[in-house]
Amino acid sequence: MEKKDLLYEGKAKILYLTEDQDMLVQVFKDDLTAFNGTKKGRFQGKGGICNALSTFFFEYLENYHVPTHFQKSLSENEMLVRRLEMIPVEVVVRNIATATLAKTYNLEEGKVLPYPIIEFFLKDDRLGDPMINEHHAYALGHATPEEMRMITRVASKVNAILKAFLDRRGLLLVDFKLEFGKSGKDILIGDEITPDTCRIWDKKTNKKMDKDRFRYDMGGVDKVYKELLDRVLNQ
Ligand code: CDP
Repeated sequence: MEKKDLLYEGKAKILYLTEDQDMLVQVFKDDLTAFNGTKKGRFQGKGGICNALSTFFFEYLENYHVPTHFQKSLSENEMLVRRLEMIPVEVVVRNIATATLAKTYNLEEGKVLPYPIIEFFLKDDRLGDPMINEHHAYALGHATPEEMRMITRVASKVNAILKAFLDRRGLLLVDFKLEFGKSGKDILIGDEITPDTCRIWDKKTNKKMDKDRFRYDMGGVDKVYKELLDRVLNQ
């Protein structure tokens, strides 16, 4: 399907309209950003890797009847997605304590949590994405209790599926972020599932295989993204 007018350009992706009003083309850029867009970088091939990983994870989740906006792959760095009315709530699921969670609750870095923690953040860069709970989501008019229940259920299910899958590849799913949107009455996962939006560590060495290498200037972000793609696709 052909790209028409630009609908939205984000930090790492661009969305274009198509001739079908229900479908968009999502293009993955080679750009990397962190800390609310204040830190910028890029590496050649990053968009292709993130498109391939997101495609893989979305197709994998569809096998488990998890609804996502993914329709089909179009090219190395483009996928066709269903147009959604996005819910401005970022849903974070955490299995292992690190970063803000470890600091806030004085947990040992790398501690495996006995239960996953689900957190919600209001998606608003100007406000710095403040943490909210379900009640804020209702009161601010972003989602109904039924929608938040559905979102929570899907986020837990995605966690169980992806955690088990990555474990079989020798990888730990530390935490990740999902975004949801509405298509008629349906609530689907939108956005992307990539090492930009997940923390993934090697199970044996705890080597970080995600955007933290860029956030914290650890080096080799391009190498670990490529290695992650190879390991996920089992090449
Ligand atoms: O503050 P801290 O880094 O501990 O947590 P966070 O920013 O809430 O990140 C938790 C997980 O969600 C990480 O895997 C991030 O990559 C992801 N995340 C994201 O993809 N986009 C955001 N706007 C916020 C978090």
